[in-house]
Amino acid sequence: MEPRRILLAISGGIAAYKAPELVRTLRRAGHEVRCMLTPEAERFVSGLSLQAVSGESVRRDLFDAGEEGEIDHIGLADWAELVVVAPATANLLAKMAHGLADDLVTAVLLATRAPILVAPAMNVNMWSHPATQANLEILRARGISRIGPDAGELACGWEGLGRMSDPAVIAEAAANQLVPSSLAGPRVLVTAGGTAEPIDAVRSVTNRSSGKMGFAIAAEAAHRGAQVTLVAGITGLPTPHGVDRIDVSTALQMRDAVLASFDDSTIVVKAAAVADFRPVNTSDRKIKKEQMAEGESMTLELVQNPDILQEISAKKGERTVVGFAAESHEVVAAAQRKLARKGCDLIVANDISRTDAGFEVDENAVLFVWPNGEVEELPLLPKAGVAAQLFDRIEKLREGR
Ligand code: C5P
Repeated sequence: MEPRRILLAISGGIAAYKAPELVRTLRRAGHEVRCMLTPEAERFVSGLSLQAVSGESVRRDLFDAGEEGEIDHIGLADWAELVVVAPATANLLAKMAHGLADDLVTAVLLATRAPILVAPAMNVNMWSHPATQANLEILRARGISRIGPDAGELACGWEGLGRMSDPAVIAEAAANQLVPSSLAGPRVLVTAGGTAEPIDAVRSVTNRSSGKMGFAIAAEAAHRGAQVTLVAGITGLPTPHGVDRIDVSTALQMRDAVLASFDDSTIVVKAAAVADFRPVNTSDRKIKKEQMAEGESMTLELVQNPDILQEISAKKGERTVVGFAAESHEVVAAAQRKLARKGCDLIVANDISRTDAGFEVDENAVLFVWPNGEVEELPLLPKAGVAAQLFDRIEKLREGR
């Protein structure tokens, strides 16, 4: 593997004594390694040892003028192609989950756009505590990877989950994180989630899209090194790590946001479920039912929204533009018609009549429908897996140019 720049963040647990070995393993694989320590970490491992094995000066203090003069904390955050947090204590994981930045390590973790891999190490009861588990879930949803902990005898005398993974295992997990930087360079624009078209101050016309597929696509693009802009509609999902997010709610707002980022984008994936129609009139007050007699009917007049995918496909030039199609019957034929009408490079079609795939769930079964008539049927996969398959195809398409 080509040499990469890895930043090792070490927090204050007994497993910190394994950090020099991890540095050596990563350096043997050819990588450049820099270390930063929390104030507590230095009680378990000396900065001098880490400096000797890394061949670089070690950073500890956010406010040390000498250290900052050499490489400032934002410079360090930007330098890293991967940040490995080993050991990651319960305290550090909690700070990461909640965005604290009260020392050098947490500030750099907040500032970096590089992928982050955590290797937790702690007492088994601290590990299984609901607070720790909730923090891990927050980090997972944000796209932060984790290796371990392993089960076994713990330094505190307890047995169970909490041992930091072996340095060789962490180094291997780090290598897996580093494999795809295949999209370094292109700017990727992704849309995700449904739109909500207001009827009045409290009601809207919307749909069941959760945004999970589009968020997985944005996360995968960032993972492959792309600069990613995610235009997010209505969704409760956290922003994937390293992704720039723009929140919108209506189709017209989504169109404006997409057009504003379009010129700078090389790849556009439109996974949003844009409402095809919006109410002609919207009231900025709540429409009261007392305004009508019981049983009286009401007509909601709708007007068609602009088709963003069609609009951008018409002026895509060298860009690769991918659309999605949610279909309930004759999936392939409908997707092929959509591909021809919209003029994009690929349609990812899914059958929304299936209950195990598509809306709201974490898995999806899709078909790639190509302009030459080819149709690829993928098995049921986690949405992250679908996203990876999609970018494998997009990269191949762009290489062929
Ligand atoms: O026509 P339909 O809504 O089924 O097409 C789905 C695809 O078109 C998705 O990629 C969606 O993001 C995009 N779309 C759009 N603007 C619309 C409607 C759909 O960009 N107004």
